[in-house]
Amino acid sequence: MNGAIPTRLIEKKRRGEELHRGELESFFLGFLRNEIPDYQMAAFLMAVHFQGLSRTELESLLDLMIHSGDVLDLGEIPFPKVDKHSTGGVGDKTSLVLAPLAAELGLCVPMMSGRGLGHTAGTVDKLEAIPGFRTQLTLEEFRSVLERVGVAMIGQTSEIAPLDRRLYALRDATSTVPSVPLISASIMSKKLAEGLDGLVLDVKTGGGAFLPGEEESLDLARTMVDLGEQRGVRTTALVTDMGAPLGHAVGNGLETAEALRCLAGDGPADLAHLSAALVGEMLFLGDLAPTPEDGFERAREALASGRGIDRMAKLVELQGGDPSHVEEPSRIPRAQEIAPAESGSSGYVGGISPTALGYGVVELGGGRKRMGDPVDLSVGFSLGVRLGDRVEVGDPLGEVHARDPAGLRKGLDVLRQAVVVVPEPPTTSSSLIRHRLVG
Ligand code: URA
Repeated sequence: MNGAIPTRLIEKKRRGEELHRGELESFFLGFLRNEIPDYQMAAFLMAVHFQGLSRTELESLLDLMIHSGDVLDLGEIPFPKVDKHSTGGVGDKTSLVLAPLAAELGLCVPMMSGRGLGHTAGTVDKLEAIPGFRTQLTLEEFRSVLERVGVAMIGQTSEIAPLDRRLYALRDATSTVPSVPLISASIMSKKLAEGLDGLVLDVKTGGGAFLPGEEESLDLARTMVDLGEQRGVRTTALVTDMGAPLGHAVGNGLETAEALRCLAGDGPADLAHLSAALVGEMLFLGDLAPTPEDGFERAREALASGRGIDRMAKLVELQGGDPSHVEEPSRIPRAQEIAPAESGSSGYVGGISPTALGYGVVELGGGRKRMGDPVDLSVGFSLGVRLGDRVEVGDPLGEVHARDPAGLRKGLDVLRQAVVVVPEPPTTSSSLIRHRLVG
């Protein structure tokens, strides 16, 4: 490697000193060329996790990440190009609902998503629960699907922000995800390479978020909105509650089925509401609605009438999947072992831990403990209760979907511990959408 000695750069960051652009470049591009091994990058990322990055460092890293690959030019597509990205939550399957819905309402949605990260599942894994669905398209194929149906949903290609792709997998395996600069650079590098006019960010806050504290979530939201706006992409962030899982399903295939039912007009209220709010913001940024509220109303009506389902079926077909699963989500492959978890006490549901359920899915084989681990898309949890519900001893709290009896036993323990039953009805009712930040 030309340039600085890697250990000196790691030391410098560990002491909290600022690295200049050339140093960051030699370290990160050296990593991309396999001259810096994973263990040195992991140590550097851990130093960033504790010491942060200055604004100048963050902007340099973002540039390096964006320009490590191609930047799409979708100028020939005559519709506003608007995407959304979430910082990651448990049960968060809004992308599968909103991408076809936004396309149905006139936007072009070039969505590039990630796989599961830490305790959160990823859109790419969820899409792969539909048999045959190809999330790895060439850029030519991606463009062609977009032109034909107004939405394409893929994983990160090797051409787009390859540096993020490598770092993302390493961060997942080294517990270095929760960092404002690392999350900001990761998300914004992918999104700013997509050739967008507008971007809506769903920044999660609360127990199941990577950054649970409200202050940190606001910092993350503000950082990303500023980075997007500075680079000419109209950007809005909604800071939304992740104190409990979104919807009822947690686990890839189960979430896909729930999202498809929601798209057909039969989804849980929180999932439908958040999806419509995000589409409302997208329509506003794409100049297809005079206000986000107007956009929300249009999205809500379209969702209630199931208008997005045909577009989803078309998308699935064009990406090689079996569209019959869109109309009949019950056909999505199910786990071998399914059983209800029963409440051990009477009272009210005072909490449902998203993190316990998210890591529970990983334990059941539905997430990765190491980079590249295969995942079982059929396992997970299907919640039967919501916060505040009254339960008696023996009432079902939800179902566990596991691949074998040992997994089932583990899953039942996880679900019983994740759902906290308290003697009095809980008083706190926090709204799903906490803050809205604009550029
Ligand atoms: N989503 C991403 O794309 N990157 C992160 O770092 C976290 C969530």
